[in-house]
Amino acid sequence: MGCEFAGEMKYARGLEGVTAAITSIACIDGEEGKLIYRGIPIEQMAEYSTFEETAYLLWFGKLPTAKELEDLKEKLVKERALSDDIIDHMRKFPKDADPMDVLRTAVSLLGMTDPEVKNPNREVNIRHSIKMTAKIPTIISAYHRLRNGKDPIPPRNDLSHAANFLYMLLGEVPDPQIERIMDIALILHAEHGMNASTFAAMVTASTLSDLYSAVVSAIGTLKGPLHGGANTRVLYMLEEIGSLENVEKYVLDALKEHRKIMGFGHRVYKAYDPRARILKRYAKELSEKKGDTLWYRMGEEIERIMIREVGKKGIFPNVDFYSGMVYHHMGIPRDLFTPIFALSRVVGWTAHILEYLEANRIFRPRAIYNGPIDVEYTPIEKRQ
Ligand code: ACO
Repeated sequence: MGCEFAGEMKYARGLEGVTAAITSIACIDGEEGKLIYRGIPIEQMAEYSTFEETAYLLWFGKLPTAKELEDLKEKLVKERALSDDIIDHMRKFPKDADPMDVLRTAVSLLGMTDPEVKNPNREVNIRHSIKMTAKIPTIISAYHRLRNGKDPIPPRNDLSHAANFLYMLLGEVPDPQIERIMDIALILHAEHGMNASTFAAMVTASTLSDLYSAVVSAIGTLKGPLHGGANTRVLYMLEEIGSLENVEKYVLDALKEHRKIMGFGHRVYKAYDPRARILKRYAKELSEKKGDTLWYRMGEEIERIMIREVGKKGIFPNVDFYSGMVYHHMGIPRDLFTPIFALSRVVGWTAHILEYLEANRIFRPRAIYNGPIDVEYTPIEKRQ
């Protein structure tokens, strides 16, 4: 019989080391701790680019000309607003819902009400990528306002993607330093190869389902604490530790008890995640600006002890370790950190789908069967 038995097939737990696609979008050198977007080192993107330009690069494979960038910005701005219908639905969402569940549901609503969703092609898929990228910041900020009994703040069309999001969320146009740091955080989170949420999005898209459905799959996947949900949990951990003096005991106890330290470790990076290095700088800058450096100093101490204890196993800070501190010092509530990750990563998800659909093949792996065979069906009245 044609079952898939152990010993006859290769099996990689968690698909470790399995190659699932060919891509020219991004490359991670996990041993050296390097990341490139379309060949450009992430450090240069963080230094010189913007989120909008990064989105163009990831979607279309090259840096835009001035005109191409203006066109894309215009399209993104035009798509920022949510219809009254969507806002009305969101008013009925529970006030204590997890914002990732809200985001997943609202993106699903967007898909259900998009007239183009039934006839996807590359042009339509690009439009959907732009729409979701434009509207996700509005969804997150609108829900945050609604759960606090306030009306959503409509988007402004004269602000950058980063500044407009902070404006809609917090009610004030951010100062240029905060705007730039948010922009950099968005650049750093926009893409990261074949991670779990990107793969989930691609599996859905490979069935020729629509892009909204694929992004809904990705949001559900990003939510988990082993993936994007770690950034929120880093702050809970800092709160639980409470002081600089408690750090060493907390970390050593956690390692002894085989508990994970959130914001550390990575399937691909066995060196310092280059995004964490950049975010660390801004976590320091912002905590000094706010005159509240305790969590940053605790973070440094956790890092020092973790590297001393498990650095030789290739466990270093990942992107989630310092991003939470950055957002915290911007005045953003911690349950929005993972939605902010999605706000940026939607670009990577959709870029990979656009690329994969050019030569699509449905994802359909196999599993080794280790259950019984030749079992006879037992009628219900004879079952114990
Ligand atoms: N703290 C302590 N030990 C760790 C950590 C950690 N954060 N991460 C890995 N390890 C240890 C494991 O206990 C295991 O040790 P062992 O071999 O002695 O049993 C070894 O390193 C390998 O760990 P796995 O969990 O098998 O590694 P995997 O590649 O499957 O997982 C993951 C990677 C999920 C990121 C893991 O490192 C983890 O859970 N980290 C904490 C959560 C986190 O920060 N997630 C965000 C990742 S970045 C992102 O998704 C945006």
